[in-house]
Amino acid sequence: MDTTPTLINITRATVSKIGSVDFENLTFGNVFTDHMLACEYSNGAWQAPVIKPYEPFMIDPSAKVFHYGQAIFEGMKAYKDEHDDVWLFRPDENYDRFNKSAARLAMPEVPENIFIGGLKALLNIEREWVKKGKGNSLYIRPFMIATGSGVIAAPSTQYRFMIILSPARSYYSGEVKVIIAEHYSRAANGGIGAAKAAGNYSAQFYPTKLANEQGFQQIIWTDDATHTRLEEAGTMNVFFRINDTLYTAPTSERILDGVTRKSIIELAARENIPVEVRPVLVSEIVAAAENGTLKEIFGAGTAAVINPICGFSYKGKYYELPVSEDTFAAELKEKLTNIQYKLAEDTFGWTVKV
Ligand code: COI
Repeated sequence: MDTTPTLINITRATVSKIGSVDFENLTFGNVFTDHMLACEYSNGAWQAPVIKPYEPFMIDPSAKVFHYGQAIFEGMKAYKDEHDDVWLFRPDENYDRFNKSAARLAMPEVPENIFIGGLKALLNIEREWVKKGKGNSLYIRPFMIATGSGVIAAPSTQYRFMIILSPARSYYSGEVKVIIAEHYSRAANGGIGAAKAAGNYSAQFYPTKLANEQGFQQIIWTDDATHTRLEEAGTMNVFFRINDTLYTAPTSERILDGVTRKSIIELAARENIPVEVRPVLVSEIVAAAENGTLKEIFGAGTAAVINPICGFSYKGKYYELPVSEDTFAAELKEKLTNIQYKLAEDTFGWTVKV
């Protein structure tokens, strides 16, 4: 991986806001660090990135991001170990996926030395914001928007790539109950479901609002054509445990290729937990819930880590999942986070020192 930092112009914040942050009581994604990285694309080339104080910026009201949603992002985390070293988890995966998303949205690819090299330079300035201790992390949000002006419906010729950082603890603050989608869809074949495009998230807001009104935190999306196959939960990929086997849907044009998802599949295999990657039918999960063989459902994502789902609703009926101390979710979360926080040997070579 060529992460040679390009020449980055750095302007330091005169005052840090770190002293005013209550790191014990963080709401996900509300607090940002002192600096951000920005890099402009114009005249067919990426310009030199800059690191500067976190601040709002101006773009033309006709910029394509506002009108046509040309916007993509990534979610990553940095962790601090006992020796004060800062680590990234599989950053190459996020980098590759970001550029796949860029290609799908007709945006320019971001070079590695800007994405990874720039991220490392930014993290080096913000090391104090990465707190030690399991559960603490610095959430990393790289994103790209179309800044070119003009409301003609065509790809922009100007873009802005940015990285902002937010200290984080958990994404969900309480229990997570889900509804299985019967009408709305997150994505369709041939669409942008596999890209981490902003529009994939805004499209979920209305159906998720309806689910929230009924007391559910998330929706498990089903395939748009038949609504018979379980796909992902929008903020997380999903795993189902029937008896002692885990099942998860294969990635597709409709499903995000989650980094936590693929890590769990590899980790489970190492721990001799059987995992089957194959279409998961709504009917089999309902039948397993009814006959008592459905032991767990959990979501997996960078922000959410591994989050148990305590029950689901389908066709107006609520199915409560059994409560147990001894879950695959807990075991896999422990093993995964031990690797991320450098508390266990990283036999996979997933962690990258900043
Ligand atoms: C992540 O897990 O990093 C995501 O991008 C999901 C987002 C909705 C917070």
